[in-house]
Amino acid sequence: MDKVLHRVIVPPMRHKIERYQRAIKGLVVSVLLRFKGVKVADRVVIEGRSPFIVPDGDLYLGSRISFRSLYGTIRIIIRGGARLSIGARCFINNGCSIESFSDVEIGDHCLIGDSVQIMDNNYHQISEGSLPRVARVRIGRNVWLANRCLILAGVEIGDHSVVGAGAVVTKSFPPRSIIGGNPARLIGQVQCSDDWIRR
Ligand SMILES: CC(C)(COP(=O)(O)OP(=O)(O)OC[C@H]1O[C@@H](n2cnc3c(N)ncnc32)[C@H](O)[C@@H]1OP(=O)(O)O)[C@@H](O)C(=O)NCCC(=O)NCCS
Repeated sequence: MDKVLHRVIVPPMRHKIERYQRAIKGLVVSVLLRFKGVKVADRVVIEGRSPFIVPDGDLYLGSRISFRSLYGTIRIIIRGGARLSIGARCFINNGCSIESFSDVEIGDHCLIGDSVQIMDNNYHQISEGSLPRVARVRIGRNVWLANRCLILAGVEIGDHSVVGAGAVVTKSFPPRSIIGGNPARLIGQVQCSDDWIRR
């Protein structure tokens, strides 16, 4: 085959084959997850390794959530009858960890970067006689959580917001916020219409 033609044709073909691979793997994993009691809207999409899931509670996965684990396994842990709901068409990247000891909800079309951690509990007591903090977490719709940010117990992040790389989010922010830093602060505003979806 002519070299130029080869360069033009092969990448789209490879792209198509990889898409089918992700879809087929996702179908198989969806069946296995249903056996474990996970509610899967239709199917998930899997690139690389399957996520490590402890569904010791109520786990709902919306339509066609994409999990990418080429390096660093994604961990999804639901303990002691807690709830975790992840919305349709969310994208979850390498090494993320989402832990629900009570109630975590992630809206549709969220983009979750490498090694992001979302947790609704502190695991340990701070002082003698106190209890570890457990409080529900809500991530709105079309939210982008950039690489290595940390979402802590009790946080709500409004629709369309962006959480900057490495942010440690300790309190809630309204829709269309751009936040960053440790502790995270408002650093800007997202300009968008209500039905816009980030790519
Ligand atoms: C959040 C982000 C998208 C914002 O980008 P931006 O709108 O171009 O922001 P700017 O660079 O104009 O910075 C605006 C202000 O916020 C600060 N800021 C930006 N990102 C920050 C972050 N992650 N943490 C803390 N402060 C941050 C800047 O220092 C600047 O402050 P100043 O006005 O006092 O100088 C970007 O900083 C980021 O996190 N990028 C990484 C994305 C990523 O992880 N991609 C991988 C795939 S998920």
